[in-house]
Amino acid sequence: MPTARLLPGTPVAERILTDVTAGVTALRAAGITPSLATILVGDDDASAGYIRIKQRQAAELGFASPHIHLSATATQADLRQVIDQFNTDPSVHGVLIQHPVPAHLDHDRALHHLDPDKDVDGMHPLNMGRLALGLPGPLPCTPAGIEALLAHHDIPVAGRDVVILGRGATLGRPLALLLTQKRPTANAAVTVVHTGVPDWPHHTRRADILIAAAGVPGIIQPEHVRPGAVVIGGGVRYEGRRLLPDVDESCAQVAGAITPRVGGVGPTTVAMLFRNALDAARRATTGRP
Ligand SMILES: NC(=O)c1ccc[n+]([C@@H]2O[C@H](COP(=O)([O-])OP(=O)(O)OC[C@H]3O[C@@H](n4cnc5c(N)ncnc54)[C@H](OP(=O)(O)O)[C@@H]3O)[C@@H](O)[C@H]2O)c1
Repeated sequence: MPTARLLPGTPVAERILTDVTAGVTALRAAGITPSLATILVGDDDASAGYIRIKQRQAAELGFASPHIHLSATATQADLRQVIDQFNTDPSVHGVLIQHPVPAHLDHDRALHHLDPDKDVDGMHPLNMGRLALGLPGPLPCTPAGIEALLAHHDIPVAGRDVVILGRGATLGRPLALLLTQKRPTANAAVTVVHTGVPDWPHHTRRADILIAAAGVPGIIQPEHVRPGAVVIGGGVRYEGRRLLPDVDESCAQVAGAITPRVGGVGPTTVAMLFRNALDAARRATTGRP
């Protein structure tokens, strides 16, 4: 049985982080310490673990990483106050509000309150607007990571049929905006399908590049893939610590190239977070993007 070429994300992330390290070193040489602040609310073990990993990586890359941990009983006003504190602190260049927040809090409202220029997730409405208009600004990390992954592995995108399953705000919708931009690593004919398109396999079966962004384990099966197509698994669901991807492993028998089950899009997302943090520090301190 033929097996697709694998498209790992780790070497893509390493290349991005090498550039980030060089950028951080240059800022530090100029007397500027780039700073990525993190906010965690509540006692969710998984979220606390993600924050620890990001803080460790921030330190390794040379970022300062001030952290505020609010209790599970914190109010929306408490969260807003912490965001205000980081918004107005000139030594803080980027801010990450760990998602999810406890159910009684509204993550979107908190995000809207964040200074858009410190939004390292690239998810603030102003930054989504910048993306839609093709203006410079922080890009949403997972879509930017997917564009970088395709470019790194020399997968041509310009002029090709890209079909995205899912129109969510984190992945499918911003990815469609990104891959239709006019530049060599994008410039694609993008179709977005979702639950409003019951016969979505009709579209995915003609895709040169199929990107799963639904968060429905195993939704993409071999019969949804054009033989030889490129398949990118963005959507995942976690059951405890178990990762359940949208793309069934058997798709590797049909695809020409495919992201691995683990170590595909994920590492590129994290790398883009640090690239956004470096860009934020450069914008704030040197006026250069
Ligand atoms: N790998 C990473 O680093 C990374 C990072 C961030 C996010 N993610 C993953 O990306 C996925 C998408 O997140 P999101 O927040 O952008 O999306 P979302 O808000 O969870 O929306 C999911 C989308 O998938 C569509 N969908 C769900 N079930 C479907 C079905 N049976 N048939 C057709 N379409 C279906 C939905 O259609 P409707 O709009 O019609 O409901 C919706 O557009 C999640 O799994 C998330 O975990 C991965």
